[in-house]
Amino acid sequence: MTDRLTIRRPDDLHVHLRDGAMLAAVTPYTARIFGRAVVMPNLSPPVTSVDAATAYRARIMAALPAGSDFTPLMTCYLTDDADRHEIVRGHAEGVFTACKLYPAGATTNSAHGVTDLRNVRGVLEAMQRAGMPLLVHGEVTDPAVDIFDREAVFIERVLQPLLRDFPALRVVMEHITTAEAAAFVEAGGDRLAATITPQHLHLSRNALFEGGLRPHAYCLPVLKRERHRLAVRRAATGGCARFFLGTDSAPHEVRAKESGCGCAGVFNAPYAIESYAAVFDEEDALGRLEAFASENGARWYGLPLNEGSVTLARGGELVPERVGDVVPFHAGERLGWRLEA
Ligand code: DOR
Ligand code: ZN
Repeated sequence: MTDRLTIRRPDDLHVHLRDGAMLAAVTPYTARIFGRAVVMPNLSPPVTSVDAATAYRARIMAALPAGSDFTPLMTCYLTDDADRHEIVRGHAEGVFTACKLYPAGATTNSAHGVTDLRNVRGVLEAMQRAGMPLLVHGEVTDPAVDIFDREAVFIERVLQPLLRDFPALRVVMEHITTAEAAAFVEAGGDRLAATITPQHLHLSRNALFEGGLRPHAYCLPVLKRERHRLAVRRAATGGCARFFLGTDSAPHEVRAKESGCGCAGVFNAPYAIESYAAVFDEEDALGRLEAFASENGARWYGLPLNEGSVTLARGGELVPERVGDVVPFHAGERLGWRLEA
């Protein structure tokens, strides 16, 4: 039995670092372990220009602990009136790593999102030419579609036509939650990849209702049935290089979660790598953790692999009930792995 595991320093290919006091509070947890992170642009107002992304990147850098060499990779929030020249310029200048597509109304701060993909065809063509990835929140917003089906329906109604119409566009299906998404991405070509969160590997939708309503397990896409969780686990641990680590760590203050209309999001940054390690261990796939966490994402994005390493040891700490004003994922649990200093 492996009791210690050293892996190359990982990257988080999908994270919400927020702004202001929350940015200052949460960024050190991501920077402590990850070399780089793809930072989501769903601020209020959203990050839609090169100037806004440059300023946001500077605020992230200011929130880093002294001596940190963490690199935030910035994204542009697509709107119906997105300017393709601005986006391609931001990519060429090394400011924008990718664009994020939020279907309008799909999730937190998505009100400015795209109402119809026909409105951004020019942008998608320009991104395809530039080799700039499109990151998709893969859920339809049609209120007639059951919330547990929104990801699978998105594949049929939106993603398949998109990939057909833009045959060279590089796409990441973010935070996949279903057997359908895992199979679709696995069967896709090199230009299609997916991120996977720790909560979708650990929890099925039963966790939302265990002994009462559990707001801290609520995120979007919402947790699914057990058979989907198992399929997503197989995708993460099965060795396909187009699945990689993206925590979707999405902090909300306790009072915004424990509310009559609670926010979606799981704050998993403080124990993210320990959480993934527990899953890979349970699946007898610890030998594949490094590829998932530290290699597949960097290679897909065309980034050099990180220098340096992190070491995990068996025997976890008790996860605290609170980290600042936020309840972390696994609060009150003891994970099977800990990070060595
Ligand atoms: O649960 C989620 N929280 N899903 C998202 O897509 C957005 C995120 C947030 O920003 O809070
Ligand atoms: Zn997200």
